[in-house]
Amino acid sequence: MTLTLAATSPASTVCDALLIGIAPGKGKSVDVYAHGLSAAQSRKLAEAFASAGASAKAGEVTRLPAQTGIKAKTIIGIGLGDFRNMLGFESYRRSVGNAVRSTAGMKKIAIIATPDIPHLRPLALGAQLAAYSFTEHKGKSKGTTPVQSIVLLVPGAVTPEQKELIAEINVISQSVFLARDLVNTPPNALPPVALAKAAKDAVAGLPVKVTTWDVAALKRDGCGGILGVGQGSTNPPRLVKLEYAPAGATKHLSLVGKGITFDTGGISIKPAAQMDEMKGDMGGAAAVICAVKAIAELGLKVKVTGWVPTAENMPSGDAMRPGDVITMFDGTTVEVLNTDAEGRLILADALGMAVLEKPTLLIDAATLTGAQGIALGTRISGVMSNDDGARAQVCAAADAAGEEVWPMPLSEDFRPAFDSATADIANIGDRFGGMMGAGVFLQEFIPKGQPWVHMDIARPSFNEKAAYGYTPKGGTGAAVRTFVQVARELATE
Ligand code: BES
Ligand code: MN
Ligand code: ZN
Repeated sequence: MTLTLAATSPASTVCDALLIGIAPGKGKSVDVYAHGLSAAQSRKLAEAFASAGASAKAGEVTRLPAQTGIKAKTIIGIGLGDFRNMLGFESYRRSVGNAVRSTAGMKKIAIIATPDIPHLRPLALGAQLAAYSFTEHKGKSKGTTPVQSIVLLVPGAVTPEQKELIAEINVISQSVFLARDLVNTPPNALPPVALAKAAKDAVAGLPVKVTTWDVAALKRDGCGGILGVGQGSTNPPRLVKLEYAPAGATKHLSLVGKGITFDTGGISIKPAAQMDEMKGDMGGAAAVICAVKAIAELGLKVKVTGWVPTAENMPSGDAMRPGDVITMFDGTTVEVLNTDAEGRLILADALGMAVLEKPTLLIDAATLTGAQGIALGTRISGVMSNDDGARAQVCAAADAAGEEVWPMPLSEDFRPAFDSATADIANIGDRFGGMMGAGVFLQEFIPKGQPWVHMDIARPSFNEKAAYGYTPKGGTGAAVRTFVQVARELATE
């Protein structure tokens, strides 16, 4: 799918559909936002939308047949609602996304764009992120393909600022698409070795150094968490480090992502229902890989290190038992009371390694707990931290990037429940507040003074329901845009 700009007149643009923003007018009338169309054409369209029953509320999509004087085969109204009261741009991104999703199967669409940069950004992002499908594993059946080409029509001439913006949106969208692809890829096609290779491939040709730990290297370095979780599978675990260190960078961002390629729960096995969704238990890893790729492509002047611990959590004669004690990279011993609390074990090793570099900011993203969904629902990620400023910084970046997050507390009161009679700590604590409990477990591996933020993206990274706005069913690419935004804010000009 390509996203481009053009300054051609909307009426004379040959395309399968012309998309136009519409908003509620006075009474039952509809206001049409279409630069480049004559006042008479706009009036005619407004009447046509109104008689087609359009209310122009946010997210509504109204299709009109071809209109005389306009070359497009169909006209689509993008319901914007009362955008004067719009809080932020998420409603705009979603409305555009709905309209673009309705054009699946088409070759070329044109959108009459809001040309100023603050409005063009959400329009372009919402449009492009909606043009996604995952058909890699369709065999004889074809599956629906998204629209092939989106042209954003601007009045006058295309400006260098607009061009630069679209180039940037292209980079971010392609990275979000790759993250979605990785999450959607079936678990038999993406064992840890394949995820490690995907990380390498993602940054091929970019100034990113890739180091991969195999089982021997993990043993040498004492990564007992990654090895323990991976030992039940015939697909061996890996750890991947991605380093982007541009000249002139003064800040260092470290990103850690949970990469469980399939989570059966291990010996503490999960129920059968929806277990297939656990192919997405590497959503944090996908976000880290794809954010590093985007940051390097954008050439942001900030050092970024991505850490991807990856393993498959399987039950077998070789698997970890509940009661086993394992030793993490930093020397902490952990009593594994539940083998389904595996994400925190592989993260502990990677966090332990990441903190040795004392990054300016360390962020991990992980599909860590079912409790995230209980606390915040399916679309809002939980953000926890040992540093109020850092947590606020990441939440603000997520808002700016258009990802839904909410700050959640980490209290020392959660810690005693993790006490182990045998080891330094157990891997499960209290049943209540499970998302924060997992965060408190991770905090055990963060030295005092190291700013660290934990994002629990369990449900938001995989949309099990129908597509909405620009978010498809399946992998969503959660955290990629937030990571890129944080990097942008840490970058030196
Ligand atoms: N990968 C799961 C968390 C998860 C659940 C992600 C649902 C996405 C959707 C994680 O490894 C897990 O199993 N967590 C357990 C922890 C518990 C055993 C303390 C959970 O949340 O039930
Ligand atoms: Mn689990
Ligand atoms: Zn898991």
